[in-house]
Amino acid sequence: MSKVAVVGVGYVGLTQALGMCKLGHDVVAYDIDEKKIKMLSAGSSTFYEPGLEELLKNQISKKSIIFTTDISALADREFVFLCLPTPQDEDGSADTSHLINAFIAIAPTLQQDCYVIIKSTVPIGSWQTLSNESDRDDLVIISNPEFLREGSALSDFDKPDRIVIGAKSRTHAEDVGKLYKKIQTKLVITDNTSAELIKYAANSFLAIKLSFVNDIAAMCENLGAVSTDVLFGVGLDNRIGNKFLTPGPGWGGSCFPKDVRALARIANKENVMMPLLTAAIQSNENVHDRITQKILEKVGDIDKLSIGVLGLAFKANTDDIRNSPAIEIINKLLHSNASIMAYDPAVTTVDGIKTTNSISDIFNEVNLILVLTEWSHFKQIDPTKYVKLVKQPFIYDTRGVLDRKKWQNAGFNFL
Ligand code: UGA
Repeated sequence: MSKVAVVGVGYVGLTQALGMCKLGHDVVAYDIDEKKIKMLSAGSSTFYEPGLEELLKNQISKKSIIFTTDISALADREFVFLCLPTPQDEDGSADTSHLINAFIAIAPTLQQDCYVIIKSTVPIGSWQTLSNESDRDDLVIISNPEFLREGSALSDFDKPDRIVIGAKSRTHAEDVGKLYKKIQTKLVITDNTSAELIKYAANSFLAIKLSFVNDIAAMCENLGAVSTDVLFGVGLDNRIGNKFLTPGPGWGGSCFPKDVRALARIANKENVMMPLLTAAIQSNENVHDRITQKILEKVGDIDKLSIGVLGLAFKANTDDIRNSPAIEIINKLLHSNASIMAYDPAVTTVDGIKTTNSISDIFNEVNLILVLTEWSHFKQIDPTKYVKLVKQPFIYDTRGVLDRKKWQNAGFNFL
């Protein structure tokens, strides 16, 4: 058992803290936000993530974690994970001020030779910037990027594809690797810079893959090809793989849009041509336009167009609407004078968008049902119950989540 701390208990920090408890470590979770710390100490999660609140209550009852705003609680920690947000700056680069300020604030308190481990996604070279920010030469700066997906963060922590640890010395990296020794996976031990780049390269590669998938789906639509068959056929090639091949309304969330732009910014600074990054961003914006245009063309009279929307979150199993393609598309439709009523099982309010907590409201007198998030709940909807409520039985399932036959048999026409 090691004495571990997590600084910043947002989405990544809380998952990391609870994951470390499960691995048998003694954990202090520190944050400057008193309200958050109070809620977490009482066993209430500050965001929705399947299974997380239960795990939180469980670890609190076992006394394996404490939540605090008191910096002195970090004084006896051997390993301190920095899990601070690195939001997008105006020029597209990642803003590391939260990370650096937190480090400056805690550094004087940390014990001799403490390991300071960067979990946040940070611009290349941030580990060096951090070292320069303190006169504590004894602190060991480690780069250990997170690869957690919202909605499946706990299982991603338990069963990662790999754990990446970057350090100046192999021994230091191995010491951090030991914290995770109960997890059976590949350990990638490298230098700090390479570890930082692995994170950006992975997220950007996935975003580029999805942009290509969405463009192929658009091509299928024009040619009359079946996109699911085409992508299934493509994915059977082992070199390509069948994951991350589902077309949708564009990639969003708090990571891909930010990280692709940040890598583009780094490439620019380094004078390395990476045109795929800007092309992927452009392709992603095109998806929002393509969907909006198709609706306006097919459903007609835009002055009276009334749309019931299923899904607001940027993907299923989360209440996160940051850079949600659903919100982008809804705003474009609102801009074209459509009236919208939206339902999402985890998102109840969004500025400027009318929402309801009753699915039947979505169907009331609408010209179109538009599916924008792939919640499995939507599969359970019985279309025969609602077909009588709609003005026109059009449906546009941008996620391919519904059973087409079932909905068609109930009288709905897919766009
Ligand atoms: C992403 C990465 O997948 C994680 O590995 C990484 O740790 C995380 O960013 C991060 O940097 O913190 P996340 O943003 O939670 O995780 O979401 P993903 O599941 O990767 O989905 C991203 C977007 O792609 C969503 O809008 C999703 O709907 C879309 N998507 C995903 C598709 O349209 N089709 C797919 O087949 C898969």
